[in-house]
Amino acid sequence: MASHGPATPMTSRACGPLKGTADVPGDKSVSHRSLLFGAMAIGETKITGLLEGQDVLDTAKAMQAFGAEVIRHGEGAWSVHGVGVGGFAEPEQVIDCGNSGTGVRLIMGAMATSPITATFTGDASLRSRPMARITDPIALFGARAYGRQGGRLPMTIVGAADPVPVTYTTPMPSAQVKSAVLLAGLNAPGQTVVIEKEATRDHSERMLAGFGAEISTEVTPEGHVITLTGRPELKPQTIAVPRDPSSAAFPVAAAVLVPGSEILVPNIGLNPTRAGLFQTLIEMGADLTYENERLEGGEPVADLRVRHSSLKGIEVPPERAPSMIDEYPILSVLAANAEGVTVMKGVKELRVKESDRIDAMARGLEAMGVTVEEDEDTFIVHGMGPGNVPGGGTAAARLDHRIAMSFLCLGMASKKPVTVDDASPIATSFPIFVPLMTALGAELAGG
Ligand code: S3P
Repeated sequence: MASHGPATPMTSRACGPLKGTADVPGDKSVSHRSLLFGAMAIGETKITGLLEGQDVLDTAKAMQAFGAEVIRHGEGAWSVHGVGVGGFAEPEQVIDCGNSGTGVRLIMGAMATSPITATFTGDASLRSRPMARITDPIALFGARAYGRQGGRLPMTIVGAADPVPVTYTTPMPSAQVKSAVLLAGLNAPGQTVVIEKEATRDHSERMLAGFGAEISTEVTPEGHVITLTGRPELKPQTIAVPRDPSSAAFPVAAAVLVPGSEILVPNIGLNPTRAGLFQTLIEMGADLTYENERLEGGEPVADLRVRHSSLKGIEVPPERAPSMIDEYPILSVLAANAEGVTVMKGVKELRVKESDRIDAMARGLEAMGVTVEEDEDTFIVHGMGPGNVPGGGTAAARLDHRIAMSFLCLGMASKKPVTVDDASPIATSFPIFVPLMTALGAELAGG
């Protein structure tokens, strides 16, 4: 969806206790990968619990354009008939990845070692995001990229006809970059090695192993060394997508903030490379309990019970950033309602997400009466104590779902209502956000 419809403002106001069960949608990272790896396997991969947000739907369409058969059987139930590693067809149309950095970056990696050419674009947010972090490593495999100034979309990738395997150290902590290199490595002969200094989400490694690839991770003084043997035959899988901890973060935060609340979030993914927010919340004094902890499809999951709690500000260490990189916007809302200062360090990657998330949160929080400080790599929020944020302003969502949802959660516990100028981006990752929050007791108007 490169075009963006009319902005739909939405307002949230203080509400009574949030109560009930929050069945959040499937994990976005796992959903993208299920479609992509399914498309690169030979035979039929069956998926349940797929996130049907716009980002993932755009990846499904892209996989069809590359020759896979992707069928929706019912809510969250999909199948993919894959074409095998190296089996991608050349798309006849421009591939539009909408708002999704994960979609475009992983697909670019996956096609970079096939002798085909594809052109990619996206919405205004995606067209402003850096792609050199992908085009640099795929050039080492032999692919060429032709994009706009600064390595921006629209961009054409000419895949390598005769790819060579690569050893690559990721220059920034990024699961998208790591995954793009591994996906490119799938169709290169020999061993492709990715070295990451800080561990990022490892869904690609777990899922590639599940699909039958030879892949191993070694923890060394240099960091995590991931070795993949190229040209495997990937075997189709049956995948139950766990629920998204990054989406769960919003009802969890709202229940912590709104007095008298108690909710249950069943079945959420608790992969340690994703669970940093929950650890941080516990350190801030939140009442969270994991129930029914278990393993599903190789991923740890649990039911999470959350009760309203008073929070204190803390320092979030930089090494925790990769495990909660998508959760800093909602953490800064929680921090605004804590007693004392919350310092978030090592967060400069937030500046190149769907928006510059430090700037978007800083300007929006200021508009609601909260004091913040920032530098390139640090974000500091001065907590005002529970329920003391004045609110009464409008925050710009900047085509960023997580910014929109964060401010709507803020409004649930502020003195005056909080408005976001455009709630439509929420559909990219959490299309049922409004009905789910309303069913728990939130008061949202507009949209
Ligand atoms: C993702 C990786 C992260 C994250 C994004 C999803 C993934 O991005 O922010 O929402 O599925 O690999 P980076 O790799 O840019 O950190």
